[in-house]
Amino acid sequence: MGAERQRLAVVSGGGTGIGAAVARGLVADGFDVLVVGRRGDVLAAAARDITAGSGRADAVVPVAADLTDPAQVSAVVDAVGERTVDAVVNNAGGYLGGPTGTLGEVASWWRANLDANVLTAVLLTEALLPALRRPGGRVVLLSSIAAQRGGGGPYSAAKAALHGWAYDLAGQLGPDQITVNVVSPGYVAETEFFGDRMTPEGHARRVAATLVGRAGVPDDIAAAVRYLVGPSAGYVTGQVLGVNGGSVLGR
Ligand SMILES: NC(=O)c1ccc[n+]([C@@H]2O[C@H](COP(=O)([O-])OP(=O)(O)OC[C@H]3O[C@@H](n4cnc5c(N)ncnc54)[C@H](OP(=O)(O)O)[C@@H]3O)[C@@H](O)[C@H]2O)c1
Repeated sequence: MGAERQRLAVVSGGGTGIGAAVARGLVADGFDVLVVGRRGDVLAAAARDITAGSGRADAVVPVAADLTDPAQVSAVVDAVGERTVDAVVNNAGGYLGGPTGTLGEVASWWRANLDANVLTAVLLTEALLPALRRPGGRVVLLSSIAAQRGGGGPYSAAKAALHGWAYDLAGQLGPDQITVNVVSPGYVAETEFFGDRMTPEGHARRVAATLVGRAGVPDDIAAAVRYLVGPSAGYVTGQVLGVNGGSVLGR
């Protein structure tokens, strides 16, 4: 890692998909990046891949942690050490399916989605609050178009919860000139999000729902995150930025 004056970003879910694109973009913007996820091997491969072309061999550091577990979040705090954190990008999450026959199963399904999409962001952000740069820190939360138009059951509800929390956090951290914003992606291909759930018909339907006639790619979302954590976005806080090809209009 570079000297203390090098900006530092923490990107959860930075080993794959959107998070890896964010990490790659932030390294290009001059940040050191800690990428966090549960699979150490996936993170290490992403770190190698991103640093290979960057000219800074130590620009990306992998930190393996399940961010739903408060005890494991300390691994990130330890990796940050005495450094100041310029940006926390809460990108970890996803849709978790499961049986829903009994009320107990419904409870487990909802808890799993809330844990994966809300608790991961809350625990990581809370743990890093003391280390955030004041003034000038940035917090970004990755939501989903599902929060704005439904379509994912507890996943939609969990992502929508991030919006309300972002508004509170923006108020709390505003006096320290720290901004808090939500990026809400539409359909983004080329990630692990859909696993084997995607079909050619599902892909075509999602593309047809956009105004621009194509699927999003991770770099589309990374571009929005890079803007929000950059120096020119200091007057943007408490906002939800849809990056969805026009599938949902301005809300
Ligand atoms: N792709 C889309 O169409 C789309 C649309 C709207 C919103 N989003 C959102 O965008 C974000 C990134 O998704 P993606 O499309 O890039 O999918 P992805 O490739 O599946 O990325 C999700 C990342 O989150 C990490 N993660 C999940 N649970 C975690 C946990 N408990 N602790 C730490 N890391 C965890 C995963 O790594 P490990 O499995 O190794 O932990 C993985 O790297 C997600 O929040 C997703 O909900 C995606």
